[in-house]
Amino acid sequence: MSGPDMLRRLEAIRRSMPETPVVKLADDTVDLYAKLEFSNPNGSSKDRSALWILKRAVERGDVTEGSTIVESSSGNFAISLASFCRSLGVDFIPVLDPNVNASTEAYLRQVCRRVEKVTERDASGGFLSTRLARVQQLRGELPDVYWPNQYANTDAVLAHYRLTGGEVCRAFRSIDYVFIGTSTGGTIAGLSQRVKETWPHARVVGVDAEGSAIFGGTPRTRHIPGLGSSITPPLFDHALIDDVVIVPERDTVRGCHELLRRHGLYAGGSTGTVYAAINRYFADHAGPRPTVLFLCADRGTGYADTIYNPRWVAEVFEEEPAADMVPA
Ligand SMILES: Cc1ncc(COP(=O)(O)O)c(C=O)c1O
Repeated sequence: MSGPDMLRRLEAIRRSMPETPVVKLADDTVDLYAKLEFSNPNGSSKDRSALWILKRAVERGDVTEGSTIVESSSGNFAISLASFCRSLGVDFIPVLDPNVNASTEAYLRQVCRRVEKVTERDASGGFLSTRLARVQQLRGELPDVYWPNQYANTDAVLAHYRLTGGEVCRAFRSIDYVFIGTSTGGTIAGLSQRVKETWPHARVVGVDAEGSAIFGGTPRTRHIPGLGSSITPPLFDHALIDDVVIVPERDTVRGCHELLRRHGLYAGGSTGTVYAAINRYFADHAGPRPTVLFLCADRGTGYADTIYNPRWVAEVFEEEPAADMVPA
């Protein structure tokens, strides 16, 4: 497929992507809204950055018919890239680690001719450095490799500024707080810029997993994919962040279960983390109800064997399954 044909295909995909819904959730203290990013065609917010990064790479001539795309991802970005690369007829090799959801890995093995999975932890106890080292190795081995480098690619910032941010600004008259989970920083950088440009009083709260180094914590072993990083990715230089909430993985699990039981929202780990952060942030709040927005970045389906499995929870956190986690 020629470059112009690829661009036409990507533009058709973009036009076919509906704006993701915003739902209001019952809450005692705030006017709480969830933007359902899991309604994107490939099930997560990563459709935004994957589409925009590919489009820009094709425009620059970095991706052509014969290219192979290689990227390190804990799951969602790889799913989006795999789908879009299929549409373009371009090869894609995801580099995964053992924290990847079983269903994500099964899907990627269906649609990609080759999947790489690292097994060794890096010095920080995570897998990021090992995954990136494998990416570099593949770049050396294969001809015409394009590496999107989602941890440093500013096209991801633009994607969330224009796509996610544009939709948020059309959906609300005003927002007081937006809570955003963090990993590469693409979402928080793009969305924070757009939200503050539109509503300068709005506060942006970054939410991260305990054991991540993004906001200065000591990196250590984490079990839930999605949020966190063992480095502070350079995209955070573009983010406008007022406050940070760090959430232990145990509270992520609780947040997911509470979202499901109270609101019927079956969401993934990063959403539970952000929901737990909002509950903690506003625990002592009194007075007027602020308008608070958060993103549901992916669905709970991929976490059925982990976060939503009481046995996994008991094993990982070395405790008996709590009553609120045993299926009703
Ligand atoms: C489920 C989920 N939520 C949130 C994020 C964080 O988004 P970002 O990488 O833009 O910081 C990710 C990133 O992989 C994710 O997979």
